[in-house]
Amino acid sequence: MRVAVTGANGLLGGEAVARLAAAGGHEILAMGRGPSRLPPGAFRWAEAELGDGRSVEAALRGFGAQAVLHAGAATDVDGCERDPELAWRANVDGTAEVARACRALGARLVAVSTDYVFDGEAGPYGEDDRPNPRGAYARTKRCGEEAALLLAPGCAVARVAVVYSGRPGAKATFATQVVEKLRRGEPVKAFSDQLVSTTLAASGAAMCLELLLESDFQGVLHVSDATVVSRVEFAERVARRFGLVGDIVPVKTAEVKLPAPRPLKGGLKVERAAALLRHKPLGLDEALDRFFAEWQAR
Ligand SMILES: NC(=O)c1ccc[n+]([C@@H]2O[C@H](COP(=O)([O-])OP(=O)(O)OC[C@H]3O[C@@H](n4cnc5c(N)ncnc54)[C@H](OP(=O)(O)O)[C@@H]3O)[C@@H](O)[C@H]2O)c1
Repeated sequence: MRVAVTGANGLLGGEAVARLAAAGGHEILAMGRGPSRLPPGAFRWAEAELGDGRSVEAALRGFGAQAVLHAGAATDVDGCERDPELAWRANVDGTAEVARACRALGARLVAVSTDYVFDGEAGPYGEDDRPNPRGAYARTKRCGEEAALLLAPGCAVARVAVVYSGRPGAKATFATQVVEKLRRGEPVKAFSDQLVSTTLAASGAAMCLELLLESDFQGVLHVSDATVVSRVEFAERVARRFGLVGDIVPVKTAEVKLPAPRPLKGGLKVERAAALLRHKPLGLDEALDRFFAEWQAR
Protein backbone atom coordinates (compact mmCIF):
# COMPACT_ATOMS: atom_id res chain seq x y z
CA MET A 1 0.00 0.00 0.00
CA ARG A 2 1.15 3.60 -0.57
CA VAL A 3 1.27 5.11 2.92
CA ALA A 4 2.13 8.75 3.63
CA VAL A 5 3.11 10.17 7.02
CA THR A 6 3.07 13.90 7.78
CA GLY A 7 5.20 15.29 10.60
CA ALA A 8 7.77 12.60 9.80
CA ASN A 9 10.59 14.51 11.52
CA GLY A 10 8.50 14.52 14.68
CA LEU A 11 8.30 12.13 17.61
CA LEU A 12 5.28 10.15 16.50
CA GLY A 13 5.66 10.54 12.73
CA GLY A 14 9.31 9.45 12.89
CA GLU A 15 8.38 6.31 14.80
CA ALA A 16 5.61 5.57 12.30
CA VAL A 17 8.00 5.83 9.32
CA ALA A 18 10.57 3.61 11.04
CA ARG A 19 7.91 1.06 11.88
CA LEU A 20 6.46 1.02 8.36
CA ALA A 21 9.91 0.68 6.82
CA ALA A 22 10.82 -2.17 9.18
CA ALA A 23 7.57 -3.99 8.41
CA GLY A 24 8.18 -3.84 4.63
CA GLY A 25 5.47 -4.33 2.04
CA HIS A 26 4.56 -0.65 1.76
CA GLU A 27 5.63 2.29 -0.36
CA ILE A 28 6.25 5.06 2.14
CA LEU A 29 6.18 8.82 1.65
CA ALA A 30 7.60 10.64 4.68
CA MET A 31 6.58 14.30 4.68
CA GLY A 32 7.93 17.17 6.71
CA ARG A 33 9.03 20.74 6.82
CA GLY A 34 12.45 21.09 5.23
CA PRO A 35 14.85 18.19 4.75
CA SER A 36 14.59 14.82 6.43
CA ARG A 37 16.25 14.43 9.84
CA LEU A 38 15.47 10.71 9.89
CA PRO A 39 18.15 8.07 9.46
CA PRO A 40 18.16 6.97 5.81
CA GLY A 41 15.71 4.17 5.11
CA ALA A 42 13.30 2.61 2.68
CA PHE A 43 11.09 5.67 2.22
CA ARG A 44 10.79 8.69 -0.02
CA TRP A 45 10.88 12.19 1.44
CA ALA A 46 8.70 15.14 0.44
CA GLU A 47 9.15 18.64 1.80
CA ALA A 48 5.69 19.97 2.49
CA GLU A 49 4.58 22.95 4.58
CA LEU A 50 1.24 22.40 6.30
CA GLY A 51 -1.11 25.26 5.60
CA ASP A 52 0.64 26.79 2.60
CA GLY A 53 -2.28 25.74 0.41
CA ARG A 54 -0.34 23.66 -2.10
CA SER A 55 2.66 21.55 -1.07
CA VAL A 56 0.86 18.97 1.09
CA GLU A 57 -1.84 18.26 -1.44
CA ALA A 58 0.67 18.18 -4.32
CA ALA A 59 2.86 15.67 -2.47
CA LEU A 60 -0.07 13.40 -1.53
CA ARG A 61 -1.51 13.51 -5.06
CA GLY A 62 1.87 13.01 -6.73
CA PHE A 63 2.44 9.94 -4.54
CA GLY A 64 -1.11 8.63 -5.04
CA ALA A 65 -1.51 8.07 -1.30
CA GLN A 66 -3.87 5.28 -0.26
CA ALA A 67 -3.48 5.84 3.48
CA VAL A 68 -2.27 8.89 5.40
CA LEU A 69 -1.13 9.20 9.01
CA HIS A 70 -1.35 12.92 9.72
CA ALA A 71 1.06 13.48 12.61
CA GLY A 72 2.34 16.92 11.60
CA ALA A 73 1.27 19.81 13.80
CA ALA A 74 2.47 22.94 15.53
CA THR A 75 3.00 21.34 18.95
CA ASP A 76 4.74 24.08 20.93
CA VAL A 77 1.83 24.94 23.21
CA ASP A 78 3.21 28.31 24.33
CA GLY A 79 4.52 29.11 20.83
CA CYS A 80 0.98 28.60 19.51
CA GLU A 81 -0.37 30.93 22.17
CA ARG A 82 2.09 33.64 21.09
CA ASP A 83 1.36 33.11 17.40
CA PRO A 84 -2.19 31.85 16.86
CA GLU A 85 -1.92 32.53 13.10
CA LEU A 86 0.90 30.01 12.85
CA ALA A 87 -1.07 27.55 14.98
CA TRP A 88 -4.16 27.96 12.81
CA ARG A 89 -2.23 27.51 9.57
CA ALA A 90 -0.53 24.30 10.65
CA ASN A 91 -3.23 22.72 12.79
CA VAL A 92 -6.45 23.77 11.07
CA ASP A 93 -5.58 24.75 7.48
CA GLY A 94 -2.94 22.01 7.32
CA THR A 95 -5.33 19.32 8.56
CA ALA A 96 -8.05 20.54 6.19
CA GLU A 97 -5.58 20.25 3.28
CA VAL A 98 -4.65 16.71 4.27
CA ALA A 99 -8.32 15.76 4.69
CA ARG A 100 -9.38 17.22 1.33
CA ALA A 101 -6.54 15.45 -0.44
CA CYS A 102 -7.53 12.16 1.24
CA ARG A 103 -11.13 12.55 0.17
CA ALA A 104 -10.08 13.36 -3.42
CA LEU A 105 -7.76 10.33 -3.52
CA GLY A 106 -10.12 7.99 -1.67
CA ALA A 107 -7.32 7.52 0.89
CA ARG A 108 -7.89 6.41 4.48
CA LEU A 109 -6.92 9.09 7.00
CA VAL A 110 -5.91 8.92 10.64
CA ALA A 111 -5.39 12.42 12.04
CA VAL A 112 -3.48 12.61 15.33
CA SER A 113 -4.84 14.89 18.05
CA THR A 114 -4.43 15.66 21.71
CA ASP A 115 -5.78 15.34 25.25
CA TYR A 116 -5.62 19.16 25.33
CA VAL A 117 -9.02 19.30 23.59
CA PHE A 118 -10.35 18.83 27.15
CA ASP A 119 -10.27 21.59 29.74
CA GLY A 120 -8.87 19.44 32.52
CA GLU A 121 -11.65 20.10 35.00
CA ALA A 122 -12.71 16.47 35.39
CA GLY A 123 -10.39 14.00 33.68
CA PRO A 124 -9.54 11.36 32.76
CA TYR A 125 -11.73 11.70 29.69
CA GLY A 126 -13.39 9.21 27.40
CA GLU A 127 -14.08 9.62 23.70
CA ASP A 128 -17.70 10.62 24.38
CA ASP A 129 -16.78 13.42 26.77
CA ARG A 130 -17.28 16.91 25.47
CA PRO A 131 -14.16 18.80 24.40
CA ASN A 132 -13.69 22.27 25.80
CA PRO A 133 -10.29 23.40 24.53
CA ARG A 134 -8.55 26.34 26.15
CA GLY A 135 -5.66 28.15 24.53
CA ALA A 136 -4.55 28.46 20.91
CA TYR A 137 -2.88 25.05 20.59
CA ALA A 138 -5.87 23.24 22.09
CA ARG A 139 -8.45 25.22 20.10
CA THR A 140 -6.65 24.79 16.78
CA LYS A 141 -6.19 21.06 17.40
CA ARG A 142 -9.91 20.73 18.16
CA CYS A 143 -10.76 22.63 14.96
CA GLY A 144 -8.34 20.32 13.13
CA GLU A 145 -10.27 17.32 14.48
CA GLU A 146 -13.49 18.77 13.09
CA ALA A 147 -11.82 19.54 9.76
CA ALA A 148 -10.68 15.93 9.45
CA LEU A 149 -14.01 14.43 10.52
CA LEU A 150 -15.99 16.74 8.25
CA LEU A 151 -13.82 16.84 5.14
CA ALA A 152 -12.62 13.22 5.11
CA PRO A 153 -15.70 11.20 6.08
CA GLY A 154 -14.77 7.80 7.45
CA CYS A 155 -11.51 9.02 8.93
CA ALA A 156 -10.29 8.39 12.46
CA VAL A 157 -8.98 10.96 14.93
CA ALA A 158 -6.42 9.42 17.29
CA ARG A 159 -5.76 11.38 20.48
CA VAL A 160 -2.45 11.00 22.30
CA ALA A 161 -0.94 12.84 25.28
CA VAL A 162 2.56 13.81 26.53
CA VAL A 163 4.53 12.04 23.80
CA TYR A 164 8.13 10.96 24.48
CA SER A 165 10.73 8.83 22.78
CA GLY A 166 14.23 7.51 23.44
CA ARG A 167 14.89 6.99 19.71
CA PRO A 168 18.23 8.43 18.52
CA GLY A 169 17.67 11.93 17.16
CA ALA A 170 14.19 12.27 18.70
CA LYS A 171 13.55 15.72 20.09
CA ALA A 172 13.91 16.56 23.74
CA THR A 173 10.83 16.06 25.88
CA PHE A 174 10.05 16.25 29.57
CA ALA A 175 10.99 12.56 29.94
CA THR A 176 14.38 12.95 28.25
CA GLN A 177 15.07 16.12 30.25
CA VAL A 178 14.41 14.23 33.47
CA VAL A 179 17.10 11.70 32.52
CA GLU A 180 19.60 14.26 31.27
CA LYS A 181 19.19 16.73 34.15
CA LEU A 182 19.35 14.09 36.88
CA ARG A 183 22.45 12.59 35.25
CA ARG A 184 24.07 16.03 35.38
CA GLY A 185 23.05 16.34 39.02
CA GLU A 186 20.61 19.17 38.27
CA PRO A 187 17.16 19.41 39.88
CA VAL A 188 14.06 18.75 37.79
CA LYS A 189 10.98 20.89 38.26
CA ALA A 190 7.72 18.99 37.69
CA PHE A 191 4.10 20.05 38.01
CA SER A 192 2.44 18.36 40.95
CA ASP A 193 -1.09 19.45 40.01
CA GLN A 194 -1.20 18.30 36.37
CA LEU A 195 -2.61 14.79 35.92
CA VAL A 196 -1.73 13.39 32.52
CA SER A 197 -1.67 10.33 30.36
CA THR A 198 1.63 9.74 28.61
CA THR A 199 2.46 8.14 25.26
CA LEU A 200 5.68 6.39 24.32
CA ALA A 201 5.92 7.48 20.67
CA ALA A 202 6.55 3.91 19.51
CA SER A 203 3.42 2.71 21.28
CA GLY A 204 1.25 5.55 19.93
CA ALA A 205 2.63 5.05 16.42
CA ALA A 206 1.88 1.32 16.53
CA MET A 207 -1.73 1.98 17.55
CA CYS A 208 -2.16 4.75 14.95
CA LEU A 209 -0.77 2.56 12.16
CA GLU A 210 -2.95 -0.37 13.16
CA LEU A 211 -5.93 1.97 13.11
CA LEU A 212 -4.87 3.25 9.69
CA LEU A 213 -3.98 0.03 7.95
CA GLU A 214 -5.90 -2.74 9.68
CA SER A 215 -9.20 -1.20 10.70
CA ASP A 216 -12.00 0.89 9.27
CA PHE A 217 -12.75 2.52 12.62
CA GLN A 218 -14.40 5.92 12.15
CA GLY A 219 -14.48 8.74 14.67
CA VAL A 220 -12.40 9.53 17.73
CA LEU A 221 -10.20 7.01 19.58
CA HIS A 222 -7.86 7.60 22.53
CA VAL A 223 -4.50 5.89 21.85
CA SER A 224 -2.23 7.15 24.63
CA ASP A 225 -0.69 4.71 27.08
CA ALA A 226 -2.90 3.53 29.88
CA THR A 227 -1.63 5.05 33.14
CA VAL A 228 -2.72 8.47 34.42
CA VAL A 229 -0.12 10.13 36.66
CA SER A 230 0.90 13.51 37.95
CA ARG A 231 3.93 14.97 36.19
CA VAL A 232 5.85 14.61 39.46
CA GLU A 233 5.05 10.91 39.58
CA PHE A 234 5.98 10.54 35.90
CA ALA A 235 9.36 12.15 36.60
CA GLU A 236 9.88 9.91 39.65
CA ARG A 237 9.01 6.76 37.69
CA VAL A 238 11.37 7.75 34.85
CA ALA A 239 14.14 8.39 37.38
CA ARG A 240 13.54 5.07 39.12
CA ARG A 241 13.59 3.13 35.84
CA PHE A 242 16.92 4.71 34.93
CA GLY A 243 18.33 4.11 38.40
CA LEU A 244 18.75 7.83 38.98
CA VAL A 245 18.43 9.65 42.25
CA GLY A 246 18.15 13.39 42.49
CA ASP A 247 15.99 16.33 43.20
CA ILE A 248 12.51 16.31 41.63
CA VAL A 249 10.97 19.58 42.75
CA PRO A 250 7.16 19.76 42.79
CA VAL A 251 5.77 23.00 41.34
CA LYS A 252 2.18 24.24 41.07
CA THR A 253 1.07 25.30 37.59
CA ALA A 254 -0.17 28.67 38.87
CA GLU A 255 3.28 29.45 40.28
CA VAL A 256 4.78 29.48 36.78
CA LYS A 257 3.80 32.20 34.34
CA LEU A 258 3.05 30.18 31.22
CA PRO A 259 1.55 31.87 28.15
CA ALA A 260 -0.95 29.06 27.48
CA PRO A 261 -3.35 27.46 29.96
CA ARG A 262 -2.73 23.83 30.92
CA PRO A 263 -5.42 21.24 31.69
CA LEU A 264 -4.94 20.16 35.31
CA LYS A 265 -7.14 17.13 35.85
CA GLY A 266 -6.49 15.61 32.42
CA GLY A 267 -5.71 12.15 31.12
CA LEU A 268 -7.33 9.91 28.56
CA LYS A 269 -9.40 6.77 29.08
CA VAL A 270 -8.18 4.10 26.68
CA GLU A 271 -10.53 1.18 27.27
CA ARG A 272 -11.93 1.45 23.75
CA ALA A 273 -8.50 1.21 22.11
CA ALA A 274 -7.65 -1.68 24.43
CA ALA A 275 -10.75 -3.55 23.28
CA LEU A 276 -10.38 -2.68 19.60
CA LEU A 277 -6.69 -2.93 18.81
CA ARG A 278 -4.11 -5.70 18.77
CA HIS A 279 -1.52 -3.18 20.02
CA LYS A 280 -2.73 -2.33 23.51
CA PRO A 281 -2.12 0.91 25.39
CA LEU A 282 0.87 0.17 27.63
CA GLY A 283 0.98 0.48 31.37
CA LEU A 284 3.59 3.01 32.50
CA ASP A 285 6.08 0.39 33.74
CA GLU A 286 6.11 -1.39 30.38
CA ALA A 287 6.33 1.91 28.47
CA LEU A 288 9.30 2.97 30.63
CA ASP A 289 11.01 -0.40 30.09
CA ARG A 290 10.78 0.23 26.35
CA PHE A 291 11.91 3.85 26.74
CA PHE A 292 14.92 2.63 28.71
CA ALA A 293 15.73 0.07 25.97
CA GLU A 294 15.46 2.77 23.28
CA TRP A 295 17.84 4.93 25.27
CA GLN A 296 20.34 2.10 25.77
CA ALA A 297 20.38 1.49 22.00
CA ARG A 298 21.37 5.13 21.26
N1 LIG B 1 4.24 16.01 21.72
C1 LIG B 1 3.25 15.86 22.59
O1 LIG B 1 3.46 15.82 23.80
C2 LIG B 1 1.83 15.70 22.08
C3 LIG B 1 0.79 15.61 23.03
C4 LIG B 1 -0.50 15.42 22.59
C5 LIG B 1 -0.76 15.33 21.24
N2 LIG B 1 0.25 15.46 20.34
C6 LIG B 1 -0.09 15.38 18.91
O2 LIG B 1 0.60 14.28 18.36
C7 LIG B 1 0.89 14.55 16.99
C8 LIG B 1 2.35 14.28 16.73
O3 LIG B 1 3.13 15.22 17.44
P1 LIG B 1 4.58 14.87 17.97
O4 LIG B 1 4.44 14.48 19.37
O5 LIG B 1 5.22 13.93 17.03
O6 LIG B 1 5.22 16.31 17.93
P2 LIG B 1 6.49 16.87 17.17
O7 LIG B 1 7.65 16.03 17.48
O8 LIG B 1 6.53 18.32 17.45
O9 LIG B 1 6.14 16.62 15.64
C9 LIG B 1 5.33 17.48 14.88
C10 LIG B 1 5.96 17.60 13.50
O10 LIG B 1 5.16 18.49 12.72
C11 LIG B 1 6.04 19.31 11.98
N3 LIG B 1 5.42 20.59 11.63
C12 LIG B 1 5.11 21.60 12.46
N4 LIG B 1 4.58 22.63 11.76
C13 LIG B 1 4.62 22.24 10.45
C14 LIG B 1 4.25 22.86 9.26
N5 LIG B 1 3.71 24.08 9.22
N6 LIG B 1 4.43 22.20 8.10
C15 LIG B 1 4.95 20.96 8.08
N7 LIG B 1 5.33 20.30 9.21
C16 LIG B 1 5.17 20.94 10.38
C17 LIG B 1 7.24 19.53 12.88
O11 LIG B 1 8.32 19.89 12.06
P3 LIG B 1 9.75 20.28 12.68
O12 LIG B 1 10.29 18.98 13.21
O13 LIG B 1 10.49 20.80 11.51
O14 LIG B 1 9.47 21.27 13.75
C18 LIG B 1 7.38 18.18 13.56
O15 LIG B 1 8.28 17.34 12.87
C19 LIG B 1 0.43 15.98 16.73
O16 LIG B 1 -0.85 15.95 16.18
C20 LIG B 1 0.36 16.58 18.12
O17 LIG B 1 -0.56 17.65 18.18
C21 LIG B 1 1.54 15.61 20.73
